[in-house]
Amino acid sequence: MATATDDATSEVKPTHVAIVMDGNGRWAQARGKRRTAGHRAGVATTRKIVERCGELGIKVLTLFAFSSENWNRPEDEVGVLMTLFIEALGREVKDLHRKNVCLEFIGERERLSEKLQRKIRESEELTAGNGGLKLYIAVSYGGRWDICQAARMVAERVADGSLAAADITEQHIHDHMALAQVPDPDLFIRTGGEKRISNFLLWNLAYAELYFSDRLWPDFDAPALDDALSFYASRKRRFGRVPDTHGPTRSEVG
Ligand code: IPE
Ligand code: IPE
Ligand code: MG
Repeated sequence: MATATDDATSEVKPTHVAIVMDGNGRWAQARGKRRTAGHRAGVATTRKIVERCGELGIKVLTLFAFSSENWNRPEDEVGVLMTLFIEALGREVKDLHRKNVCLEFIGERERLSEKLQRKIRESEELTAGNGGLKLYIAVSYGGRWDICQAARMVAERVADGSLAAADITEQHIHDHMALAQVPDPDLFIRTGGEKRISNFLLWNLAYAELYFSDRLWPDFDAPALDDALSFYASRKRRFGRVPDTHGPTRSEVG
């Protein structure tokens, strides 16, 4: 049974970490480079952080790589990002597979090129049986899109008569969300200094601990991740309940 001493001394680790990898453009601009140079540097950080999470025994890592709204960026930036995804997959997937990582993509993949969709399918198939870190990459992803597509699927069940509208519960929606197969994120990290969610996992972040780092994503590293994990370990999560005082229960008091 957990005691107050256990709570104070053990570094409680999150099961699921979700990261908004922000700040690539500013990192490049600060060096007089094009924004796309920042995206290239960001890929190297992603590699290191994935590796670190695997080493630490974190079970699930979800990375926000490209949002529904990022489609509104200049065409050449979007083009470079899509090419980078294809290149990074080609380069990294074998290594991820060797490290027992199970890779999956979440988001509106119909909007991606045939070539990228094929690469995604191949990587998912290759790594599907792996039991190590579960890595989700959110590309063409939006929290509102996710809720909307889940609602559509539940609506289809109502339309075909297998579910009554009055019987719809949170669980029905949850079961159709992109991250239905894993526990909700415990720790949300956003780099780049902005304190917003920017349409990331709106449904699943309901009770995540929120951590914001001023570091730009290409400058984020293993010690910076460790700082975020220490922050998490120091949180008292209550989920709407009252704090656990470890004192005598009401029945013991009499
Ligand atoms: C995050 O970096 C990567 C993507 C959104 C694709 P940004 O490109 O948003 O970098 P900043 O925020 O402009 O510095
Ligand atoms: C969020 O960053 C999306 C990703 C990191 C993929 P943005 O740079 O798109 O977010 P805003 O525009 O600052 O809210
Ligand atoms: Mg940004």
